Amino acid sequence: VLVFGATSTIATEVAQIYAARGDRLHLVGRDPGKLARAVERCGAAEVSSQVADFSRLDDNAAVVREALTALGRCDLALIAHGDLIDQLATERDFAAAEASLRINLLSVVSLVVPLANHFELTRTGHLAVITSVAGDRGRPRNYTYGAAKGALTLYLQGVRSRLYSAGVHVSALKLGPVDTPMTTDHPKNALFATAQGAAQGIVRALDRRRVEAYIPWYWAGIMPIVKRLPEALFQKLPFLSGR
Ligand SMILES: NC(=O)c1ccc[n+]([C@@H]2O[C@H](COP(=O)([O-])OP(=O)(O)OC[C@H]3O[C@@H](n4cnc5c(N)ncnc54)[C@H](OP(=O)(O)O)[C@@H]3O)[C@@H](O)[C@H]2O)c1
Repeated sequence: VLVFGATSTIATEVAQIYAARGDRLHLVGRDPGKLARAVERCGAAEVSSQVADFSRLDDNAAVVREALTALGRCDLALIAHGDLIDQLATERDFAAAEASLRINLLSVVSLVVPLANHFELTRTGHLAVITSVAGDRGRPRNYTYGAAKGALTLYLQGVRSRLYSAGVHVSALKLGPVDTPMTTDHPKNALFATAQGAAQGIVRALDRRRVEAYIPWYWAGIMPIVKRLPEALFQKLPFLSGR
């Protein structure tokens, strides 16, 4: 199992689940200290690691090559990193909007391109990416980040069909809000999941080879309604269309 963005709170939990099952892991992340702790938390499992900053888009093909070489055989590659860059900053300043699209969309695509080519050649494997319910409908609260995540979901639909005949699985994991450092400043409500719960949901969805999975499951009931709400009604509901 290969995990990109392995220092993410959710990804660290996912790695622990696979480690407990006896899988061999290779963890890739930006912060060497956090990465060492993520490896440690995998206990006795066989785990290697690699430091990489995914915002260096031109380096990412080499990052993937090094990771695949380290692992030898890859059954599952999970891309988990993301950055909920301040929405207001992305509205004031194009540089912040660009940074959000770069890390949440372009850096993921720059990893998916070599991974998809690798899996297409080996005619096996499972490629999974963490996206978000924020990508289902643009909202003032997070539409720059949401646009990146929504584009990823769409991008993965194409990759999935391309790799279908090669027997390669492609999963988009649409997470609802999770209590992690990414959402420290967000007021919590009953719909928030724990990182551990989200990780269990991710592994369950991947075990079932789900193509697009809402995590936790209750978002599968909520988001189709939010997506299809007529515009006039949507604008009258401040918890959706407000800040
Ligand atoms: N938490 C939520 O409510 C929520 C909801 C929907 C979707 N998601 C998605 O879930 C995934 C995991 O997020 P999380 O909640 O676990 O948040 P988190 O703990 O804050 O993790 C975010 C991770 O992204 C990494 N990252 C950011 N920029 C990077 C870069 N340039 N290069 C390498 N790594 C980089 C961070 O690395 P460092 O450790 O070095 O900072 C960190 O490990 C993300 O894709 C996020 O968008 C989260």
